[in-house]
Amino acid sequence: MTEWQAISLFITFEGIDGCGKSTQAGLLSEYLSRQYGSEKVLWTREPGGWPGSSCLREMLLSGELDHPWTEVFLFLADRCEHAKKIIEPTLLTGAHVLCERYDDSTLAYQVWGRGLDLGKVESAISLCGHRSPDKTILLEVSMETALKRASARSRPDRYEKEGKPFLERVREGYRFLQSREKDRFIVIDGESSPEVVFKRIFDSLEEFF
Ligand code: TYD
Repeated sequence: MTEWQAISLFITFEGIDGCGKSTQAGLLSEYLSRQYGSEKVLWTREPGGWPGSSCLREMLLSGELDHPWTEVFLFLADRCEHAKKIIEPTLLTGAHVLCERYDDSTLAYQVWGRGLDLGKVESAISLCGHRSPDKTILLEVSMETALKRASARSRPDRYEKEGKPFLERVREGYRFLQSREKDRFIVIDGESSPEVVFKRIFDSLEEFF
């Protein structure tokens, strides 16, 4: 049995809206299912990755919340249930978990995007006590590429709601977080076709296979 098969990994996918997280998490999930069986991999996302969470997701994406801490508390409440009900039990079965967005999104969006204090948001996250990811794939794309991809979606995206400067700050946040934890983060150039970007991700995780 290889090391990859023997241990379950918790991998998160992060980046600004339109960076291609869903496509890449989907491709990795497909690959791992083919290789090890579909029961050996779970592909999930935040906000709203657990049964009963649709009202929280709806509230968070509606853009109708005025107080920035309301957002933090709701994202964290969603994560507490997601971690307790889905992520942690799945890892205990020996399956790998691929999750789009997690604590780094809360730091990048609510601290750099909204302007909340880093230390305070980190304290709130640590109060929750959920498990941290083993590896985080950070997909880097230009604002132009992200904008093009995100505006092809049906619902109004963050660019329309918050504007480009907001996402530029979020991107700065991700860079800071990555520079602080270089072992956990894997930075991937997300500018090419899905297949080429996936090859980059695959190569960077190969040591675990
Ligand atoms: P979503 O429709 O899931 O899009 P994406 O594919 O970009 O993840 O939107 C989730 C939005 O919520 C996205 O703009 C990032 C934001 N978000 C936060 O601001 N803080 C968080 O903690 C999380 C998990 C997401």
